[in-house]
Amino acid sequence: MRKPIENPIRDMVIEARKIKDKKIYPFNIGDPNKFDFDTPEFLKNALIDAVKQKAGHYSDSEGDSELIDAIIKREREKNDAHIAKEDVLVTQGISEGLFFLFASSISSKKDEVLLPEPSYAPYIGIIKFFGGSINTYKLDEEKEWEPDLDSLRKAITKNTKFIVVINPNNPTGAVYHKSLLKQIVDIAAEFKVPIISDEIYDELIFDNAFYAGMASIARDVPTIILNGFSKSYLIPGWRLGYMYFQDPTGKINNLKAVVNSLARNRLCASTPVMKACSKAFSERSHIQEINKKLKERGEYAFKRFNEINRLSAVKPKGAFYIFPKVDIKGRWNNDKEFCLDVLRNTGIIFPYGSGFGQRYGKNHFRSIILPPIDVMEEAFNKLEGFMKKN
Ligand SMILES: Cc1ncc(COP(=O)(O)O)c(C=O)c1O
Repeated sequence: MRKPIENPIRDMVIEARKIKDKKIYPFNIGDPNKFDFDTPEFLKNALIDAVKQKAGHYSDSEGDSELIDAIIKREREKNDAHIAKEDVLVTQGISEGLFFLFASSISSKKDEVLLPEPSYAPYIGIIKFFGGSINTYKLDEEKEWEPDLDSLRKAITKNTKFIVVINPNNPTGAVYHKSLLKQIVDIAAEFKVPIISDEIYDELIFDNAFYAGMASIARDVPTIILNGFSKSYLIPGWRLGYMYFQDPTGKINNLKAVVNSLARNRLCASTPVMKACSKAFSERSHIQEINKKLKERGEYAFKRFNEINRLSAVKPKGAFYIFPKVDIKGRWNNDKEFCLDVLRNTGIIFPYGSGFGQRYGKNHFRSIILPPIDVMEEAFNKLEGFMKKN
């Protein structure tokens, strides 16, 4: 029997359910639709149309053909991706893609994955679940959470199966410059390690922070790109994502074959959702509005966290998150105790930082920047009062 795995983002909800005497502030999950965001009308209508046009059948396991064409067009135009139809797999969210990738590639402790630290927590849980090992490279808080290339280089071993890059980043809100990505690609090439690039927030960037997709940089390095519709298209509960393999060397063809065989055994993603989303990329007018709100809310969260006793934070440049540092002492032994105490006293759910990595996630917590300012104000006032008392 395998052991249960941790996910600080959702495990904290179980603790929150025990609290009956307080208003709960769900500042833990990156779901915009829990606040004043909603699925664009054109997508809702496209889903209704798809259902009416008899889309209740199974699709091909790789995904709906029209959607795959739309993904290829988008990835060629945005990221200059060199891919064909057989390189793309549609998944039920990136989450399913992560299960496919690690189920296909990890069979023992000798199989190591090099993750950023802090890292989006399910990478840690899923790799552990399949019995693999995790090495991490440092995201440097002093440098606005940029990857530390020296630590990346040092963490590669002969067993490293993949280098994972998450850009724009969850949980830090950082967006990396192209020159930095280029250096990561050079290291991957030197050590002959494929890259997994998670680009789910690639439309959600503020202040024109520079962004480049990994496909445009990792020309000769085998790369698996993960993306999805949950965040930019405001449909996290519809469960739709995709992955593609860009690999002129053919070195990850075997992995692609195993992943596709797994996909055939789970049959397919939701056919109506795939049909509705095959038109998604041509309608992007809602994205500007999302970024306007996120920028304002990110700045507010940044200001408030830095004003509160014993907290400090780096301003987010993209995605939905900020990752404040907390000076842990006295009342708490660690960040988990801190988050549980905050939850029980203020009703705010923050996932604890060490769940995103024991070394560089420690003494931190993650907050979303999605709630409207008045909701954040109410919650952060409670947090401020709690920190003053303690
Ligand atoms: C970096 C990152 N990757 C993947 C996911 C999972 O997304 P999906 O809804 O596509 O499964 C998330 C969700 O928060 C995320 O932040």
